[in-house]
Amino acid sequence: MKDSTPQPTRLADYQPYPFRIEKTDLTFRLDPKATRVLSRIRFHPNPARPGRHDLRMDGERLRLIAARIDGAPVTARPDETGLTIPADALPDGAFDFEAEVEIDPSANTALEGLYMSGGMYCTQCEAEGFRRITFYPDRPDVMAPFHVRIESDMPVLLSNGNPVAQGEGWAEWDDPWPKPSYLFALVAGDLVAVRDSFTTRSGRKVDLAIWVRAGDEDRCAYAMDSLKRAMKWDEDVYGREYDLDVFNIVAVDDFNMGAMENKGLNIFNSKLVLASPETATDADFERIESVIAHEYFHNWTGNRITCRDWFQLCLKEGLTVFRDQEFTKDMRSAPVKRIEDVLMLRARQFREDMGPLAHPVRPESYIEINNFYTATVYEKGAELIGMLKLLVGDEGYRRALDLYFERHDGQAATIEDWLKVFEDATGRDLAQFKRWYTDAGTPRLKVEEDWQPGDQGGTYTLTFTQHTPPTPGQDEKPPRVIPIAVGLLNPNGDEILPTTVLEMTEERQSFSFPGLATRPVPSILRGFSAPVVLERESSFDERTFLLAHDTDPFNRWEAGRSLARDVLLSMIRDDAAPSEPHAQALARLVTDDTLDPAFRALCLRLPSEDDLAQALADAGTTPEPERIHTVREGLATYLARQLQKDLVRIYEEMETPPPYSPDAASAGRRALRLAALGYLNRIDHGARAASLFASADNMTESAAALACLIDGGRGAREIAAFYERWKDNRLVIDKWFALQVAHAQPDMAAQVAARLAEHPDFEWKNPNRFRALMGALAANHAGFHHISGAAYRFYADWLIRLDPVNPQTTARMSAAFETWTRYDAERRAMIRAELGRIRQTPDLSRDTFEMVSRILAAEKA
Ligand code: BES
Ligand code: ZN
Repeated sequence: MKDSTPQPTRLADYQPYPFRIEKTDLTFRLDPKATRVLSRIRFHPNPARPGRHDLRMDGERLRLIAARIDGAPVTARPDETGLTIPADALPDGAFDFEAEVEIDPSANTALEGLYMSGGMYCTQCEAEGFRRITFYPDRPDVMAPFHVRIESDMPVLLSNGNPVAQGEGWAEWDDPWPKPSYLFALVAGDLVAVRDSFTTRSGRKVDLAIWVRAGDEDRCAYAMDSLKRAMKWDEDVYGREYDLDVFNIVAVDDFNMGAMENKGLNIFNSKLVLASPETATDADFERIESVIAHEYFHNWTGNRITCRDWFQLCLKEGLTVFRDQEFTKDMRSAPVKRIEDVLMLRARQFREDMGPLAHPVRPESYIEINNFYTATVYEKGAELIGMLKLLVGDEGYRRALDLYFERHDGQAATIEDWLKVFEDATGRDLAQFKRWYTDAGTPRLKVEEDWQPGDQGGTYTLTFTQHTPPTPGQDEKPPRVIPIAVGLLNPNGDEILPTTVLEMTEERQSFSFPGLATRPVPSILRGFSAPVVLERESSFDERTFLLAHDTDPFNRWEAGRSLARDVLLSMIRDDAAPSEPHAQALARLVTDDTLDPAFRALCLRLPSEDDLAQALADAGTTPEPERIHTVREGLATYLARQLQKDLVRIYEEMETPPPYSPDAASAGRRALRLAALGYLNRIDHGARAASLFASADNMTESAAALACLIDGGRGAREIAAFYERWKDNRLVIDKWFALQVAHAQPDMAAQVAARLAEHPDFEWKNPNRFRALMGALAANHAGFHHISGAAYRFYADWLIRLDPVNPQTTARMSAAFETWTRYDAERRAMIRAELGRIRQTPDLSRDTFEMVSRILAAEKA
């Protein structure tokens, strides 16, 4: 460890900063190795912290050249983490602090602060990167208007806000909206703009620009179109308008995350901007649309109203994810989007919540905040907004949001503020709801049912029991309010109770439905109305009935999903044969031409190997990765044979005529066709995949065909051809790396990964490239957990190598080991050894140290 004992930061210790900032002026003299940053900050005493206080500013890896207070030099010696000017060296009242520091962007491989990517300068300041740029109170509750001057011979010089002036070798920007330092951004480079404009509903004309390297202009159209649709949607649905004259987006190749919402100057990982039919898949297009929207939506939920401290991260991220999900529902198919989101939630957030990294949506302490940009804060945080909306209704939600924007505009707010707004706008008491923010863990919801026939019709009763298993540091979990959306169906398939939201507030609670002619079939947790695990015994027949008749598309899908899961689990545990009735039910659904192809494609997808491992562990069985793999492959091949005729017909009928279009309907047809291909590929010796690969004019089909070929142990020629065709396109070559590893046979995965890590194009310092290869290995469940331990060792070796270069990405990727306690003693011993080896690495970053320590702490006694 670099810092001997990293101290946690605690929510309970929050104190306002002793000073407010009236204005922040920055001048950058850019130089790759020696950039000078001149700052002038106008401080005022903060009435919220009476008395005299030292001026403490954050700062890391800065060379201080000079510091002045009100023009007079001060001798201040920075320490490892910042700079303190003692209270007695400060004037009473307001004062100017000025500093000149030197930094080295070219040596910044961590990609936090000011760094260089492909010859351009760019910044990433969230969460705590600004302190690597200059001395500053680098915390979200200190907000100020910024004026920025950039001096550089780069042709394009960008910062936040509106451009005010520019000349030969310089430009000045002014951002009138007070913001915290984490929203600061600067870009300088040889870039070209793809331009458009948007006129807000009150008549402000906004100049839009997407800045990319020359040659990439023709792959920006979809991102630009998405941006304009997002701007319009936020006006229509939330009444929120944009508030500057320009909105700039820059694409960079080296970026730890997906994208960043800096005020007026969003910075994006280039994979989330650049797309053409030949280079991007349908999934890429959809992701671009949602991330562009997400970052744009932050302008109100994040920027105009920001977080008081990083414990409140879900205030902006959970809400903004919820908003981007709603946007996608409106742009595409709402049920399909809901299913995709729940698949993701279960795969990532439930997995997190059931393991050593479980934490509340609003954590109480952290060592490194970067480690808390998690599925729990994001995805579960978004689920909480969805539950609030269900509980208060659409109109209550709209009133609450209006009040939120009105009351907290320009402020740094908390979850308490957020809930108070809902209470004030709707009159509801949300004290119990708050537990969703403070208590970790996924509640288990047991359901019992009762039917009492009677003269006035029978009474049907549902009794729910909730229980949340302990999570690290939280043993006791009081009951939470759970909105349970239910519907009731007659045995003939008619709906007799349309979707109704039951509010469960007790540990055990019953809800009765009197006056029914016959015993109904319940459809419970429609639309996945709460992020819980539903534990309910239900017969095969009942689930096939729901699969055929449920009016709620989510639960219809869910019925099929749980059938497939149970078939797989009994094949794995009891050596059972595949189920013919299951195959027939599936066949009826996927051949139902009245259903959306995208929905049918989702129904064809089997639970992943990781899902099955989790389900087994939950049920008290130690998962065996090879066995899960073999059985799942076996069921897929069985289904391919059983459904062969239907799948062939689907494959033929779902062909989409050129030209390619990324719209949801066409993408849905391709998804269904390619799902059919995935099955047929097991019985046609790769014939269809090979011919599709040869003829495809778009990346969706090329990549899927190549994946099929690799799955079948074929495709050497195609892999080489793909490389030759795309070797100059980094984003496509990322796919080339990922596909080979993700689809490698389990016993070959580590070897394939190791061979590819030797490839001259394996630029491991580039996060996209590193994630393409290593992330694919971690995602190859049976390969990663192969009993040889080769993948564990290889993966740990690379984490150790990456850590000094890029701690943030290393730490995030160490979560691949978070499920380790599920497995057998032999695997646990191997993983424990690798985690121990990582933790003992000299000078390990505190990011990775925190993650590995938390994962290791899961060791069961
Ligand atoms: N504010 C984040 C970017 C960020 C994440 C900065 C972590 C610093 C640390 C941004 O709004 C975001 O959430 N980006 C996501 C994509 C989004 C669509 C969920 C990302 O980068 O993955
Ligand atoms: Zn975000």
